Amino acid sequence: MRGLSSHPLLALAVGAAAVLSSVPARAQVDPNRFVDQFESTFGKFEGFRRSGAKGICATGEFVGSEQGRMLSTASAFSGRPVPVIVRFSVGGANPQAPDNARTQRNLALQFNLPGGEVWQMGNISAPVFGAATPEQFFGRLQSLQPDPATKAADAAKVKAFADANPDVLLLPRYLASQAVPASYGGTNYWGVHAFAFVNAQGNKQFGKWIFEPVGGVKTLTDDEAKAKGPQFLFDELRQAVAAGTVAFNFNLQLAQAGDRLDSAVVPLPEDRRKVTLGRLTARQVSPDARGECDAITFNPIVLPKGVEPSTDPMLSARAAPYAVGLVRRLTEKPRQ
Ligand code: HEM
Repeated sequence: MRGLSSHPLLALAVGAAAVLSSVPARAQVDPNRFVDQFESTFGKFEGFRRSGAKGICATGEFVGSEQGRMLSTASAFSGRPVPVIVRFSVGGANPQAPDNARTQRNLALQFNLPGGEVWQMGNISAPVFGAATPEQFFGRLQSLQPDPATKAADAAKVKAFADANPDVLLLPRYLASQAVPASYGGTNYWGVHAFAFVNAQGNKQFGKWIFEPVGGVKTLTDDEAKAKGPQFLFDELRQAVAAGTVAFNFNLQLAQAGDRLDSAVVPLPEDRRKVTLGRLTARQVSPDARGECDAITFNPIVLPKGVEPSTDPMLSARAAPYAVGLVRRLTEKPRQ
């Protein structure tokens, strides 16, 4: 699938097919208005992703575990190495976003499975997202839009929206409470949505996943972060991958009856059992800012047979704006 999915229009078609086949119909915020609002709120950086703009492509492999095979028929878990396209990024629309701030990091993946099947996902360095519904996310973006005169958001508007929608503060508060990541390879990345894993007997196990660095989480003190400056994560990643130390356990927290499965702002209870579905290892990093991940929009409802979406409204809401974002960035003047 590598060749096929790296063609932008076909990648879009793959996404669209997944939307039609697996997600219940639901009124959505118009995807063009959504992406317009990203641009109005965070600025328009032509040729770049409207979110996770400062990123880097890498490749690697995933080897599934027996536990993975017990839970799901997905060929990702066969135990044979599966090639994976990887993109690491800093959250936000600014391609110059500093690496040394307490902001979001992302791990986006495309598993290229046998027979042309693909599995895409975009994971974030927090256990919760910044909104529970697309409408709430859109409202939050509107509230953060800078006033043309002052070039700053209206603090009263921001507060009023957050007071009425406290869910939107969970993600920024979590990030502010965490130290600055020292390495893309030393950070936890959460899927935040629930997915169902379906095995050969047809048993369905819901869960939420986390990619946890095999070598542990690595962070910087405030002084170290200051000394590192705004640009160190790409070089650090290249060195760590060359040393063979960028690997993650793909862990699934298993949901129990009664757990919330439809919310990206409500994590599963902490005591839920965690199993390891396999290991992802990064093998190569792009020498520059371009690469195989460029033409991919990591659409989390592009799932393999054996993994199914939950009814989380944020999950189904991602496909269309991602497609709009992809078309915009690929048809704008090439980035520098
Ligand atoms: C309605 C909800 C959402 C909208 C409108 C939205 C919008 C976007 C857009 C426009 C992009 C850039 C896509 C591209 O150009 O290829 C993006 C990237 C991304 N989003 Fe979202 N997003 C939403 C929800 C979420 C949620 C819930 C998560 C949590 C996991 C998330 C995580 C990411 C990540 C990790 C990326 C960067 C992926 C990459 O490296 O390409 N997004 N988002």
